[in-house]
Parts: sequence; C-alpha cells; structure tokens
Amino acid sequence: MTLDVMKYAINRITNESPELGAPRKEEELKSMVGETITPLGIGGEKAFHLFRDVLVKATVPIDHPRHLAFVPAAPTRAAVMFDLVTSASSIHGAYWMEGAGGIFCENEAMKWLVSLTGMPKGAFGVFTSGGTAANLSSMVTAREYWRENELNLNKKGCIITSVGAHSSIKAMAKVIDADVLLVETDDLMTAEALQEKMNSLDKNTMERVFAVVATGGTTNAGIVDDLEGIAAICKELNLWFHVDAAYGGGALAADSVRHLFKGIEKADSITIDPHKWLFSPYDCGAVIYRNPELAKTAHSQEGSYLDIIKDPGAHGFNPSDYQIQLTRRLRGLPLWYSLATHGTNKYKWAVERGIELANLAGELISSRPDLELIRPPSLSCVLFRRKGWSEDDYKNWTYTNHREGLALVTPSKWKTKKGFETVARFCFINPDTTEDDIKIILDTMN
Ligand SMILES: Cc1ncc(COP(=O)(O)O)c(C=O)c1O
Repeated sequence: MTLDVMKYAINRITNESPELGAPRKEEELKSMVGETITPLGIGGEKAFHLFRDVLVKATVPIDHPRHLAFVPAAPTRAAVMFDLVTSASSIHGAYWMEGAGGIFCENEAMKWLVSLTGMPKGAFGVFTSGGTAANLSSMVTAREYWRENELNLNKKGCIITSVGAHSSIKAMAKVIDADVLLVETDDLMTAEALQEKMNSLDKNTMERVFAVVATGGTTNAGIVDDLEGIAAICKELNLWFHVDAAYGGGALAADSVRHLFKGIEKADSITIDPHKWLFSPYDCGAVIYRNPELAKTAHSQEGSYLDIIKDPGAHGFNPSDYQIQLTRRLRGLPLWYSLATHGTNKYKWAVERGIELANLAGELISSRPDLELIRPPSLSCVLFRRKGWSEDDYKNWTYTNHREGLALVTPSKWKTKKGFETVARFCFINPDTTEDDIKIILDTMN
C-alpha cells in the first residue's frame, strides 16, 4: 500500500497535464463509493483506490496549465515532495523548543521574502494558513496597537480600503468587529481618492479609523494601488498601513513590474501568499511586520503550560507569537526546500513568465475582432469581453469548457458607468501554460 501511495504521488507530481476533473453531486459520489467510514474500516487499499479512481476525478487540479480561473497555483515538484517530508517529519511548528530546525528553514525563506519587500532592518514575519489568516493577523496587530492609546479602548475601530480589495478584508473586519469604509473604486486606489474619502468623514468616524488597507495586486484585475501616496497619508495621520499583496506579492521578484510596488517598503504589515504566485503547495500564506514586537504583543498566548517555551533554556523564535494560530504545520518548509533547490533566479523567471503570458494573451485578444480588452493586462491578470455575449453566454462557456475537460476559465465582473459588466478573466501563474493553451481557449469563444 505504501508503494501504491508513493507511486501515485510520483505519477501525479510528474504529470504536467493532469485530467481536469469536475465536481459531482454529493449523492452521486456517495453512490459511487458507498460507506467509507465503518466500525471495522474498509482497509487502506480500498480507500486509496476509491480516492484514486473516483474521488480525485471530482476535483480540479489547480496546476493544470489551462486552469486560469480565480488565482490558480503551480507548486514546484520540489515543494510538493517536501510537503510529503514535512508531514512525515511530524514537527510542531509553533515553538522553537520543538521545531527549531524546521523553523530555521522557514525563517531562511522568510528572509528572502522580506528582502523582496525592501522593508527596513528588523522587519520580519511568519507563514500562515493563507492570505485571510495573514490579513486577520495584521488587522488584530494594528487594532491592538491602536488600543494602546487608552482613549481608543472603548471605541469600535474602522478600516479604510477600496472596493477592489479582497473579500477577506471585509470578512476579517467582521471577525474583529471593525467597520469598513470603502473608497469607491475597483481600479487603482489613489492617494487623492483616499484623502477625499477621509475628508468626507465626520470627526468621530475619523477618530475610529486605525488602519488603511491597500492592495498590491487586486484579485480581479492585478491592479497595484498607489502605495507610495497612501503610505504618506498613513504616516501623516499615524494610521497603520497594511498592504494585501496575497496574490501580487510574488511579482516583487519580477524586475519588469517591481516599480509598481514602490512604497510597499513603508508598510507596517504586508500579506504575501506563497501558495499563490510563489509556487508553494496549499496552504502557505505569510504576514510580514515592520515591527514584529507589536505582533508579539497582540498575539502571544499565555498559559502555565506554555511558560516553558518562553524560558531562556528553550526559547528561540516562536512563530505562534506573530499570528492567530498556536499549533501550526511548518508550512514554509516546502517553500524553503524549493527555493534552496532552484535558487531565487528561477523564481524570478517563473513569475516573469506569468506576466509575459498575460501580455501575450492581451496581444492575442486584441488581434481577434470578436474580443476586446477591458483594460491592459496587469501583473498576470487579463480582463476581456466577447463582443455580444450576455452573462449566460459567459457561464455556458465556462461550464462547457470545464465539462469537456478543456479548461477552467471563469467569468468576472467589471464596473462600468451603467453598473457591472460580466467579462472573461485569465489569471496566469503556471509557467508551463503555453501560447497554444491560450489560443485553444480563445478559439472556444468564436
Ligand atoms: C488579494 C488577496 N487577498 C487575500 C486573499 C485570501 O487568501 P486565502 O484564500 O489564501 O485566504 C486572496 C485570495 O485570492 C487575494 O487575492
């Protein structure tokens, strides 16, 4: 059975074009596999075969070269292999006392991430379960820092962000019971638009604002806000400046677009998801702080059973001090191994390839009379319209391509003067996607 599992893993890792599975109804899956959880167990072999032959076919491989929907992923083989090693090693990733050797590796990878941001000496971070957890961890830190001022103790906090910000910002604001005020744009949030929003607020509301969240690569369109201008406003008003670069953060490695992120080095905290554009397997996000001590004040947990991890005899860097989780997987380990294996130049190349593919898609779209770009490609996102198509046409196109195992490409929306228009969207991550893949998908819109 062990050999079966290893053989499967090796075949899957080396398969460049895995079958594009599709979901089935739960009742259908149940009737295909029957009872799997029973008092005596069905046996590893049978369970594994059911997974391999039935269930995995009802999933979509995120690294398929024609999976261009949402934010896909393309973990390197080295990273996936090391994910197996991470599991097999059974390491607790919360404290140095238990995880020192593994946390050391994570921190080496983190140093590279921090260097990409250009943040000053002392800035550091930890790996999280994803962008949502990273955003939440930074928002808690920002709110706790704001509440160090006694005048703010009983006030409900307020965050300003833009319509283009990711849904997790609004969702995590609910978790910390903060209000969210939106700058009305899903295009670039400028310093002027932010200032205008602030000018429109009454004094009481403005006193409740503790953070501004800018986006370093919007999920829908790959747009990077005016980070430099927004940083200046935050500095002047003493507001926490968070940059959500969960998707776009990988592009910090790409010389061709690095200038778009000018000002990110002034952030108080940054989210970057290695499981998006830095080729790590799920799940791996990261949060980086200008002053990690503030995160420690906000997140460090107390308990008599935890005292030993703070004792000088056992103490080192405890990742649990800097984000919302205590027990955690060493989810930065696969990134470390992959970076160590390939070198950072290979990462630069792979990210640049995603940007190149977006520009190539832009050219191909512009050359077809039925298609039209909504805006120039940005980072690795392309928004475009099929002239004459309704919302239903886009949906049918998505379902047909998916059903036929050809591609997963989903529609999105873009704001117009009249409301929201349904549009087609590509997001490129996988450097193995080819020009032909793009052409094949565009041909399905004829
Ligand atoms: C800009 C941005 N922030 C946050 C997130 C949430 O990240 P996760 O799904 O890893 O929690 C996403 C996900 O697409 C994103 O694009």
